[in-house]
Amino acid sequence: MGYDNIRVEKRGKVGLITLDRPKALNALNSALIGELGTALDAFEKDERIGCIVLTGSEKAFAAGADIKEMQPHDFAKAYIDDLITPLDRVSRNRKPIIAAVAGYALGGGCELAMMCDFILAADTAKFGQPEITLGVIPGAGGTQRLTRFVGKSKAMEMCLTGRMMDAEEAERSGLVSRVIPANDLLEEALKVADKIADFSLPVVMMTKESVDRSYETTLAEGIRFERRVFHAMFALEDQNEGMTAFTDKRKPQFTNK
Ligand code: CAA
Repeated sequence: MGYDNIRVEKRGKVGLITLDRPKALNALNSALIGELGTALDAFEKDERIGCIVLTGSEKAFAAGADIKEMQPHDFAKAYIDDLITPLDRVSRNRKPIIAAVAGYALGGGCELAMMCDFILAADTAKFGQPEITLGVIPGAGGTQRLTRFVGKSKAMEMCLTGRMMDAEEAERSGLVSRVIPANDLLEEALKVADKIADFSLPVVMMTKESVDRSYETTLAEGIRFERRVFHAMFALEDQNEGMTAFTDKRKPQFTNK
């Protein structure tokens, strides 16, 4: 399918999606959100894809939901259209998604990055939830996910004032996993994605499922879930291959079985 607001490429076992509305700083309008969902669903179904990288431009990962598109809405339209909900497809994807963020990640842009499994930030990245300046609250998970990432005090300050956080502060606060010089961001993100895509796909997917479970349940339930999944690994040929390769002192050849 052709896309107007994103670019979609396969780089070996890695699916690369680039947000591409440069004139609007990659603002997330309904067309872009629809295309993003379609591209992600296609990569999820594609057996050859083991990891996905989502990125934007040098200036903006995404400057938020499209304010010009939302401005004329009233409550009934926002509710009936279920404004923003289609973006949730990002967090439902079962394969790992790395957000490679340079420039602005504001509002829905910051929320989109947080829906991914981890964030690699360029040293130019700026994160924020400026919705309060527009007379609304974050609507794509910002009040919930940002709080889990950086704790209540900082999340509250960010959401109540709309101030931006630079990459260094974002790393210090646990919002991003690493900061990388802007020129190397995409190459590094693809390298990390390649590494993940070389592992056993069912094991990668179950790792993601298990880490995500820690957000949704108690520690005891989470540990029980992890233990069941860990035991189930022994039904996989890839477990036998991985452990045999270690004892044979060779590189494992995973077959995703
Ligand atoms: N929606 C629609 N258009 C946007 C946009 C957005 N979120 N962000 C930027 N644009 C557009 C601008 O209107 C401008 O278009 P025109 O040339 O047609 O005027 C173009 O992108 C370039 O933007 P600027 O001229 O403003 O660029 P700048 O470098 O001076 O400033 C910026 C950059 C600080 C990011 C500024 O654009 C800005 O503040 N953007 C809005 C950020 C924001 O409030 N995001 C939250 C949106 S609400 C939301 O996301 C709700 C939710 O939780 C789901």
